[in-house]
Parts: sequence; C-alpha cells; structure tokens
Amino acid sequence: MKISNFISFEGIDGAGKTTQIKLLKEKLESNNYKVFVFREPGGNKVNEQIREIILSKDFNITRESEILLFLASRAELVNQVIVPLLKDNVFIICDRYVDSTLAYQGYGRNINLEFIKKLNSFVTADLLPTCTFYLDIPIDVMIERKKGGKYDRMEQSGLDFFKKVRNGYLELVKYENRIININANREIRDIELDIWEIMKSNFKGVLK
Ligand code: TYD
Repeated sequence: MKISNFISFEGIDGAGKTTQIKLLKEKLESNNYKVFVFREPGGNKVNEQIREIILSKDFNITRESEILLFLASRAELVNQVIVPLLKDNVFIICDRYVDSTLAYQGYGRNINLEFIKKLNSFVTADLLPTCTFYLDIPIDVMIERKKGGKYDRMEQSGLDFFKKVRNGYLELVKYENRIININANREIRDIELDIWEIMKSNFKGVLK
C-alpha cells in the first residue's frame, strides 16, 4: 500500500494527545508541510452534530447506536474531508481513528472485533494511517489528570470500562505493526522527541 501522509493518535482520555498533536504539527510545518488536524468524531458540520449527540449526557443511547454514530462520522470525515486533502505537500493528523472503535466499542463495550474491523473497512474504504501513535498512561494517571474536569457521556462509563479500553489498546499494539506504543507517563519533551524520531524513520529522507 502507498505510504500516505496520514498519521493518527490514540489513547485513553487524558493521555496527552492534544499536546503532542500540536507539537507534531509545528514540526511538520517547519518542514514546509501544510498540516490539517481533525478530531473524531468531528471534522465537518455534520460530524460536529454527531459528536454532540454521542457525547451529550442528555441521551442514554445503546452501544449499537453509539458505534454506528462513530462510524457514520468516520465515513463523512474520510470520504468528504481527508481523501480530497491527501496530497504530497500535506499532512493529515487525526485525533482518534479506527483503533478507538476497536478499543472503546470492541474491548470496552464487548462488540465483536472482527465485525468492527469489517465496519471500519467499509466506512474508510481501507484507508489506514501510515503510522499511529498510541499514548499509553496507567488508569490512575488518567484519573489524576482529569481531576476536577468535566466528564462527558463516554467519560462517565466507569473505571472498569477504562481498564478494558486500555488493555484493549495494549492488545492492539501487539499485533498491529502500524501502531507504536509510546509511554506517555513522561515529560512532554521526551514524548515529543520519541514521536519525532519515529516520524523521521517512517518518512525517511523526507523529514529533517
Ligand atoms: P473527546 O472529547 O474527543 O475525547 P479525547 O479528548 O479523550 O479524545 O471525546 C471522544 C470520546 O469518544 C472519547 O471518550 C473516546 C470516544 N470514542 C469512542 O468510544 N469510539 C470511537 O470510535 C471514537 C472515535 C471515539
């Protein structure tokens, strides 16, 4: 498969994806790339509305509806937004992508993983990132980092849920070479340097 300038970030809530995405964006821009960052669910007007429905505490939706809404949003993002933007001088960074559904709805909500893979493949037409950074933090670090913050509907799912999600990610990194496990329970600068080294080796001769 052709190497595309498409990167995703994964991790449980509070892992520090936003900070690292911002730092990576700046580095890519200093390499003269135009960089687009999208969050899932999100990326266009329809998806921001889907996001509101999924995360709102006003609705008590079933796991079936939940997964289908995440996937509907992904279909819009890939087909309407990402694919038309993928060009040589552009990088796309996605804050969550196909692996979030495997970790949260698969491992977290016990929906069959093979079924999710088929759905992911259907909504993305098999477009995968060249590289996925999974930022790993222990659950107690997540709790500490989220202290005093607001909780959305997903974040209210309880500790057992998040343990399953984290273990799920740790399973995914075992058999998926594309996903790189980054210890995110460290200084921001150290994590940033690790990510950049991996980027340079994935995009050899292209990034400096
Ligand atoms: P968000 O506020 O973007 O969380 P974060 O800042 O941690 O990325 O909310 C997205 C939530 O949706 C988050 O709890 C993870 C969850 N999610 C799924 O459960 N499945 C999915 O496929 C995706 C994309 C997100």
